Amino acid sequence: MSSHSAGAVLNQIPSPNRTLFSSAHLRVGTQEVNSMGEISECKASPGPANNSNATPRVQPKTLLQEYLLEHLPIYRKLRELQRLGWQSEAGDTHFQNQRQRADHADAKAKTGFFRLMRTIGLELDDATLALTLPSGGNSPRPAILDLCMAPGGFSSAALYRNPAALLRGISLPPSQGGHEMLLNKYWSDRDPSAQIYVSFRDITLLAEEMGTPASSVPASHPDAASFSSDRPFMDQEFDLVFCDGQVLRTHERLEYRQKTEATRLLTTQLVLALQRIRPGGTIVILLHKADAWPSVQLMHTFAAFADGVELFKPRAGHRVRSSFYLVAKGVRPWREAAVEAVRRWKVQWSVATFGVQGGRGDERLSGEEELELLEGGEEEEVRAVLRKFGPALVRMVEPVFAIQAEALRNAPWMKNMV
Ligand SMILES: C[S@@+](CC[C@H](N)C(=O)[O-])C[C@H]1O[C@@H](n2cnc3c(N)ncnc32)[C@H](O)[C@@H]1O
Repeated sequence: MSSHSAGAVLNQIPSPNRTLFSSAHLRVGTQEVNSMGEISECKASPGPANNSNATPRVQPKTLLQEYLLEHLPIYRKLRELQRLGWQSEAGDTHFQNQRQRADHADAKAKTGFFRLMRTIGLELDDATLALTLPSGGNSPRPAILDLCMAPGGFSSAALYRNPAALLRGISLPPSQGGHEMLLNKYWSDRDPSAQIYVSFRDITLLAEEMGTPASSVPASHPDAASFSSDRPFMDQEFDLVFCDGQVLRTHERLEYRQKTEATRLLTTQLVLALQRIRPGGTIVILLHKADAWPSVQLMHTFAAFADGVELFKPRAGHRVRSSFYLVAKGVRPWREAAVEAVRRWKVQWSVATFGVQGGRGDERLSGEEELELLEGGEEEEVRAVLRKFGPALVRMVEPVFAIQAEALRNAPWMKNMV
């Protein structure tokens, strides 16, 4: 299979899914992530392999960057600062040390990270009111779903704003490398009727949820015994869903999960969220690189079935990073665009997990082919999105880039460079 081109693989997929692939997106795997949820940027991300003699494909990233460079002065500044930063050895050392500290975090560092996430949650609410849920009167008891919950900073902030809310969380077990739960309120992982109940599991193995019955996974698949048919919290609706998952270096994974794990994690969170959100509810999603096609396409996708989409970049931490949050309010999960998006994310999860949707599990694409399929973004599609969505995009991303640029300009390793 690895000798096939991505196009050849597409031809093997039944036509409804083929059209889905052509607008596939969501690869977020161009970053390194440490155990405290910090991202270190890759200095360069090579485009997918082009093994034909045809005119090279214009990368969606190139089109987006050209557009933003033309329309957004702060983006030009940020790019220049990044270029200087990447030349700095002191910057490299800073990020290396940060990774090192995070991977071997002691109790004090873990508590520090929990507090930081709580502060970011409160800041997010101050800026967007995303965490302030209707209560009293005829409103039902507010319900919150926190995907990838530990250490629990966001949950702590959400409970501070909504003390009576029901909270359900899912998080990677610490025994598999996940964060420990440090929530400062009583929570249970045994009693599903508790106000705060947490299910510890690897969400990317929820095969049934992602449209592949666990029983149909071939025995030859390296993770065959690990996939699950569970659909946690499927019988509940939530007013607010956090999707703050981060691939952790401390999470030991099989080889097949090394390259596409970020896609597997994000698509699983999105499907879980959309299949449980109360119509009109709010979804908060951690993303990276506001100038990357997967992020932009996600903003555009959500705009089609949410009453409002805004971006939030915290000042309390992670300023120098490319990370930011997409906040979608008034989400309408039964709109056609939402149903279509869920279908597409399931296909992407399947490709990232099995190589080919419905494949036998021992037929895998080469890494480059897989990434090309997942990133998608045909030139015409990117241009069409920019024509329609470009001005709104510029307004949305400007504050994100402004905060990052300011932080980078003031970073210690930039001292004698700017
Ligand atoms: C940035 S931290 C989340 C911080 C949290 N939102 C808070 O406010 O404290 C990322 C989380 O993703 C979780 N995670 C990573 N991979 C996962 C997986 N496959 N299944 C479930 N959780 C996962 C990690 O264990 C960690 O708890």
